Amino acid sequence: MAPPRLRHLAVVVGAALLARRALRRRIARSPLWPLPALPEPISGHSRRRPTAVRRLLVTERVTVAEGVVQLRLEGKGLPRWRPGAHLDLVLPSGLVRQFSLCGDPDDPGSYTVATRLVEDGRGGSREVHERLRVGTEIEVRGPRNRFPLVEAEAYVFVAGGIGITPVLPMVRSLAASGAGWRLLYGGRSRASMPFLDEIEKLGADGDRVTVVAQDEAGHPDTAAALAGVAPGTAVYCCGPEPLMDAVTAALPEGRTPHLERFSAATTDAAGSAAFEVELHRSGRTVRVAAGQSVLAAVREELPHVAYSCEQGFCGTCQQRVLEGEIDHRDELLTDDERGDSMLICVSRCRGGRLVLDL
Ligand code: FES
Repeated sequence: MAPPRLRHLAVVVGAALLARRALRRRIARSPLWPLPALPEPISGHSRRRPTAVRRLLVTERVTVAEGVVQLRLEGKGLPRWRPGAHLDLVLPSGLVRQFSLCGDPDDPGSYTVATRLVEDGRGGSREVHERLRVGTEIEVRGPRNRFPLVEAEAYVFVAGGIGITPVLPMVRSLAASGAGWRLLYGGRSRASMPFLDEIEKLGADGDRVTVVAQDEAGHPDTAAALAGVAPGTAVYCCGPEPLMDAVTAALPEGRTPHLERFSAATTDAAGSAAFEVELHRSGRTVRVAAGQSVLAAVREELPHVAYSCEQGFCGTCQQRVLEGEIDHRDELLTDDERGDSMLICVSRCRGGRLVLDL
């Protein structure tokens, strides 16, 4: 039999090992512990990086304007982001929706998003408003940034309603750095416009902010706001489609604004002609009917193919095209990307056949 001191040592070591195992089990079960990154989407698109998936906890829910709630989502070791970035929220029903981040980009412990209830929308905002409460766990993907703040001599922002969310972190960072900026912020009424107090404080030095509430002064005058905008000034707009059209029209020919869409530009994934799509790596061919999207046809063979918004604005469904003439119907891809890839949720084929690297 071992001497008492050795027996005591064995008991202590054994207890320490059990405690360490229990701690590891607790961490692994913790809802806030990041899940490993998902494997590369089935797209296999060589330029797309896997998107990290995390489970976060709703720890705060605040009404920041009429019909607008702001959520604080907490986790551990969250990646930093830059102004303009958005987060994909996988809602309890499985719907995936994008929300601009509007909190502190350097906070490793939480993300903040805000959303307006859209009564006749596609269901995402209603689900956020009705089902995400303090204590709800939610899966998120990202952040990703398709609306980055570029280097410029000065900045003009035009935001409509909830379109202020990606603009707010931009304006905060420019105000902190002393850069030149102006903002035209429109909404139905002052009560419906989120973050109004903070925005007005940020722009207090030098009349940087013009607020136009429709019930007091009608629609914002984008032409006046953009008249004579200098060539080195970057113009940003986020809001309803007509506002973005007005900003685009107000700029001199050859200049384009940076636009962030919360809904797709007018796109129609359906078309009058059917065509074939060969899925090269899978060795299968699918028929895309006249009233069907390429994505819908592909999902019949490859149900796990990556997609999200189904409206041509998130970029999740981007696929490499090996052969065939693409009929691009999105406004997201760059000319370079359009050369050999397409968004299969909205774009189609000009001929009878496409070959995808799927
Ligand atoms: Fe969002 Fe196609 S699924 S762009």
